[in-house]
Amino acid sequence: MNPLLRTPLLDGLELKNPVMPASGTYGAALEGKEFGDVRELGAIVTKTVTPKPRKGNPPPRLAETPCGMLNSIGLENPGLETFLAEVLPRALELGPPVILNLGGESLEEFEWGVERVQETGVVALEINLSCPNVQGGALPFATDPEACLRIAQSLSNRSELPLFFKLSPNTHLLCEVAMAAVEGGAQGLTLINTLLGMAVDWRLGRPRIARGVAGLSGPAIKPVALRCIYQVRQVVEVPILGVGGIQSVEDVCEFLAAGASAVQVGTQHFREPLAGVRLARELGELCAQEGFSVQDLQNRLGKDRKRNRDH
Ligand SMILES: Cc1cc2nc3c(=O)[nH]c(=O)nc-3n(C[C@H](O)[C@H](O)[C@H](O)COP(=O)(O)O)c2cc1C
Repeated sequence: MNPLLRTPLLDGLELKNPVMPASGTYGAALEGKEFGDVRELGAIVTKTVTPKPRKGNPPPRLAETPCGMLNSIGLENPGLETFLAEVLPRALELGPPVILNLGGESLEEFEWGVERVQETGVVALEINLSCPNVQGGALPFATDPEACLRIAQSLSNRSELPLFFKLSPNTHLLCEVAMAAVEGGAQGLTLINTLLGMAVDWRLGRPRIARGVAGLSGPAIKPVALRCIYQVRQVVEVPILGVGGIQSVEDVCEFLAAGASAVQVGTQHFREPLAGVRLARELGELCAQEGFSVQDLQNRLGKDRKRNRDH
């Protein structure tokens, strides 16, 4: 293990480096292995699994955009029982600790799911409150602080595993929602899920994505992700997993400096299935070259802010 990359997140949860794939951009969890050795990832995050199987949304559900892509997959997955029986055992064999991303249509579904996945070998749960492609994009838990507080309280009471709540940038109440999640018992946050967007085929007179509105990801959203992390870092102290448009090791450093405790690589995986592995390696090289550690990099903006205030 490279000591410069050590990434302690919580008591009892330390990663060997801060780079992991973002949910849903890495197959169910296993596909990276088809392309090479994934043992160098800090962790593996599964695609969202829901208690019941979901077919997902009708095609077309992907479209390329300048500097990014739109998706409306709609959380297609085989359901929690099939996932636990057929996918998770193989994901656990890959080496890196596994974070299971859990979705649901209702509070009751989330509660059932959280109870079901205790003692399955995963190190933490990422609770996906923020997929814009289900429930008509309404996102009640990720846009209403009261609703977020209630679900966080209920799920944290049911879980021995740490819970990271994945929040949405599609609200002006992001900081309030983040504080509510933490007050309710979230041990960490993941920021951000996709931004609502759209692409139009004006010749055919229809949206390019069957459902019309979809989630925008990729480098186009990086400044939004950095802003969200920076603002939320001012109001909570829990670890933040930063995600949105990361492509380069410089991007990783920017996210850590803005307040992320670790980072997730998403859309870049569609161009480069081992992007996360490359970034973990490059981060190690950069840290050695520059003589700093991941922990030195973290929250540099926050520290500057404090320094400026103290003087
Ligand atoms: C095709 C696709 C599928 C995704 N599926 C999920 C998912 O199942 N669960 C989830 O929490 N986020 C999902 N996301 C969101 C990503 O995890 C990530 O939050 C977002 O794409 C921003 O990161 P990026 O710009 O690096 O892709 C998906 C994104 C894409 C592009």
